[in-house]
Amino acid sequence: MSQKTFHVAVVGATGAVGQQMLNTLSERNFPIGELSLLASARSAGQTIEFKGENITIKEATPEAFEGVEIALFSAGGSISKKLAPEAVKRGAVVIDNTNAFRMEEGVPLVVPEVNPEDIALHKGVISNPNCSTIQMVVALKPLKDRYGLKKIIVSTYQAVSGAGNVAMDELVRQTKAVINKEEFTPEILPVGSLEKKHQIAFNAIPQIDVFQENGFTLEEMKMINETKKIMHDQSLEIATTCVRIPVLTGHSESIYIELEQEVNLDEVRKLLSEAPGVILEDNPAEQHYPLATRASGRPEVFVGRLRKDLNNPKGLHMWVVSDNLLKGAAWNSVQIAEKFIEGL
Ligand code: A2P
Repeated sequence: MSQKTFHVAVVGATGAVGQQMLNTLSERNFPIGELSLLASARSAGQTIEFKGENITIKEATPEAFEGVEIALFSAGGSISKKLAPEAVKRGAVVIDNTNAFRMEEGVPLVVPEVNPEDIALHKGVISNPNCSTIQMVVALKPLKDRYGLKKIIVSTYQAVSGAGNVAMDELVRQTKAVINKEEFTPEILPVGSLEKKHQIAFNAIPQIDVFQENGFTLEEMKMINETKKIMHDQSLEIATTCVRIPVLTGHSESIYIELEQEVNLDEVRKLLSEAPGVILEDNPAEQHYPLATRASGRPEVFVGRLRKDLNNPKGLHMWVVSDNLLKGAAWNSVQIAEKFIEGL
């Protein structure tokens, strides 16, 4: 019997995440019958090679979703708000990588290692969480299941590719300018319709997206609210500090957690080494721990630097790294699509 195939659309096919979505669909041999590559009018008419075939990019319009069964969106929140309902109206299931619908009731927010069962509750749209949230919840899920999770304090060290191709170009441009002692004007970071921009080369910017009234940034509030939703625990205590650093790809996170019970480090190592989607890299004697350079291009979440807190027997520290474009975006979206078709 021949396998059922699907008409798949990738919205934002020319972008940093869109390109990785195409790579991942190809590598996973996703059952595609027809592939629509959608982007802005600027890219319409250009071609992208997929599995040896040149596919012409079309402008993302409501009509472009005629016949589409699965639409992967990663072209920014405003495009998702405008076009995801049009895709759904035409019968597609949307897997949305933007912030547009994540916190809406009735929209599952899914990390397949954590809450795959939520996929079945969709009403047309399934949201893919923020990249920083995804890698954190994958690492914490096995510990939450074993010990109960009370509190998280996390600081992120985020790569510029989270802000798209333009931010990667900006880091390279600024780095060259600094080395060559040339003048330059920061143009891209921090992201989010902000007037003021800062240097990212040889710097750390403690702001990702716009500030909220409570003093946290939007990125920090995304991590807080999304983690509670994915883990189905509104009472979870969580504080976040999100920092952009001059790394191209791979987000790193320093995470402190308080569990409901005293932790046993050997057991923690065993749980993490057996957890789906996790690779334990925790051997200080060999200076072996997760690194963005090594995680880049890989689909897993890397965990190391495990230490019990010195004051709280229920406290644990760790370092968690993952490719923000893959598990943080493209791979998580394709994984949702795989689970979705499994359930049909
Ligand atoms: P385009 O290349 O035609 O501008 P990144 O995250 O790397 O910045 O990429 C953003 C993605 O969103 C790109 O694929 C970009 O396409 C797409 N995009 C931007 N504006 C629009 C729009 N108005 N309609 C559809 N796609 C858009």
